[in-house]
Amino acid sequence: MSPLAAPPCSSELSLSVNEVAIDPAVLAEAVSGLTVSPKTLSPWLFYDEAGSILFEQITALPEYYLTRTERAIFSDHADEIINLAAHASSETPQCLTLVELGAGTATKTGILLRAAVRRQSHVIYQPIDVSETCLVEAQANIESHIPGVTVIPQLANYITQPITITRPTQAQVLALYIGSSIGNFSPVQAREVLLNLRAQLQPGDSLLLGTDLAPGEHKDVATLVAAYDDAAGVTAAFNLNILNHLNRDAAADFETANFAHRAVWNASESRIEMHLESISDHRVNVADFEIGFVAGETIHTENSYKFTHEAIAKLLCDCGFSVAKSFSDSQALFAVTLAAAV
Ligand code: AVI
Repeated sequence: MSPLAAPPCSSELSLSVNEVAIDPAVLAEAVSGLTVSPKTLSPWLFYDEAGSILFEQITALPEYYLTRTERAIFSDHADEIINLAAHASSETPQCLTLVELGAGTATKTGILLRAAVRRQSHVIYQPIDVSETCLVEAQANIESHIPGVTVIPQLANYITQPITITRPTQAQVLALYIGSSIGNFSPVQAREVLLNLRAQLQPGDSLLLGTDLAPGEHKDVATLVAAYDDAAGVTAAFNLNILNHLNRDAAADFETANFAHRAVWNASESRIEMHLESISDHRVNVADFEIGFVAGETIHTENSYKFTHEAIAKLLCDCGFSVAKSFSDSQALFAVTLAAAV
């Protein structure tokens, strides 16, 4: 489910307008975002059931290099990552426990867990996610396929709620924040997320951070934009599905045909922006609110920040970590950075 995993805990459908069930958090987000200029919608609204399925499809698209590149980096360097994390505080290797923020179904994490089991034969893995379904699936998959791993799942929104880390005696924590999830936060929010995590860690613990790299010598802007505007239109469907979500849970009457998907590289902010552009002047009802759109006006739905190695090091340093080693692919598309809590 949600890699961003940020919906306020709001699954209760408690209000109703004309007999239509309303999710108060969805309605509040819709009203606050659509009654201002420029209009925005928060990206956690992407991840209803249909949106979560579309996101899974995005991760397998030829244009969306992020997931397969990060997976390849793990496959190439998992043993080294685990070894370095185990030696983070001393020459004598320590036992590791792996904690993952926004774990989802933990598909890529298996590569790291297998490396950890090769090293220390038993590993405690603590996935944290807002989706119980994902946690159940992650636990079943990992425990049935990787003997030696005990899963301790935690149902929590790591953005809005404190997280709890179980620390087996003398174990060091390797926290995973992968999948470029950090890129969906503003620079201020990204620091808050990492500072909250750092507050639960001790010197000698480590963080493995997955970030998409900014265009540069090897990576061109076209490659980046295509990852968010694929030929098959899956990302467009994912973006437009946010309107279906509002129709269902905020008593709205959007016509998705009145909007077009846009993915734009904003060089000065170093981010891909996703927008929904109104293709005509028209009005939409959201519960008791009437919202006007003019042709060409957009709803800004997502930012996906892209980082230089310097920006990654600065972010980590600002949050109480120091880079131990950075891993990338031959095309410099994606970075996986191991950092020590200092
Ligand atoms: C979840 N997150 C890292 C994705 C990204 O690349 O920013 C979300 C996404 N949006 C469109 N495609 C993928």
